[in-house]
Amino acid sequence: MPAHFLSADDLSAAELIAVLDRADELKADRAARMRAGTALPREELRGRTVAMVFEKPSTRTRVSFQVAVTELGGAPLPLSSAELQLGRGETVADTGTVLARYVHAIVVRTFGQDRLVELAEASSAPVVNALTDLEHPCQALADLQTFREVHGGFSGRTLAYVGDGNNVANSLLLAGAKVGLSVRVAHPEGHAPDAGIVARAEQLAAGSGARITLTTDPVAGVAGADAVYTDVWASMGQESEADERAGRFVPYRVTAELMGHAADGAVFLHCLPAHRGEEVTAEVMDGPASRVFDQAENRLHAQKALLATLLA
Ligand code: CP
Ligand code: NVA
Repeated sequence: MPAHFLSADDLSAAELIAVLDRADELKADRAARMRAGTALPREELRGRTVAMVFEKPSTRTRVSFQVAVTELGGAPLPLSSAELQLGRGETVADTGTVLARYVHAIVVRTFGQDRLVELAEASSAPVVNALTDLEHPCQALADLQTFREVHGGFSGRTLAYVGDGNNVANSLLLAGAKVGLSVRVAHPEGHAPDAGIVARAEQLAAGSGARITLTTDPVAGVAGADAVYTDVWASMGQESEADERAGRFVPYRVTAELMGHAADGAVFLHCLPAHRGEEVTAEVMDGPASRVFDQAENRLHAQKALLATLLA
């Protein structure tokens, strides 16, 4: 296993599949424990503290990591940068050095990937990317878990991502290419995923049998796909661009009509939070093909599997 999980590219294909298998086992075990009355206790993180540093808002990531650590017998320590000296200008490197003297892992949500890398380089404890402007690899783990629950595997299947080529799209490209899931991204002109990540995904896909396709045509992107995925048009930190994007992104809205071009049995995915009437219609978001709340739940299981593996 790598020292840190900063990118979906940090796990090999075999490590990724092993994390997904473990996530499935932990999900089944939790369901059995809940039927018996409690999800506690497991022992994987007994005696370990996991700091969670958030420089951006979060509902799913914050809560699912906190519950994941607790249910594995560890102690979560949620921290917002406003409460830390980080918010008053202490460097990320010094913050990483110091936190690692106290805790066994550090989960970080921040802006630039360079900020995360700087913190990880200074930290003797594993660092986990809980979203940066470039990537959202924990989301991709839960997305692959959800896709496999629905379709049974990845090989020969296609996931179509429609909309902004953002952090979520970048991590899906890398994770999909690793496990042999073809990924198509249909994006507005000027909003393609990161070029370096696309090149790396193409390289990985050549080895796994997946295909990476970029297009500006949403119908061509979705045609015959097994899952249609979208995300917000303006990510955290891009609020000032929201109005201008809202006009130009309309052809990339996931509607029932667009879903009609996907394969029979195709599901709708979204990392959430969603804006009904913007990137997706309420009809699709709340319709029978939507698996968005399974995705959100799977964050818990996938992150438990990741932490248990990183801290083994
Ligand atoms: N999908 C996701 O990461 O959601 P939050 O921003 O609520 O954590
Ligand atoms: N692309 C979104 C994902 C939120 C979970 C953002 O970065 O705001």
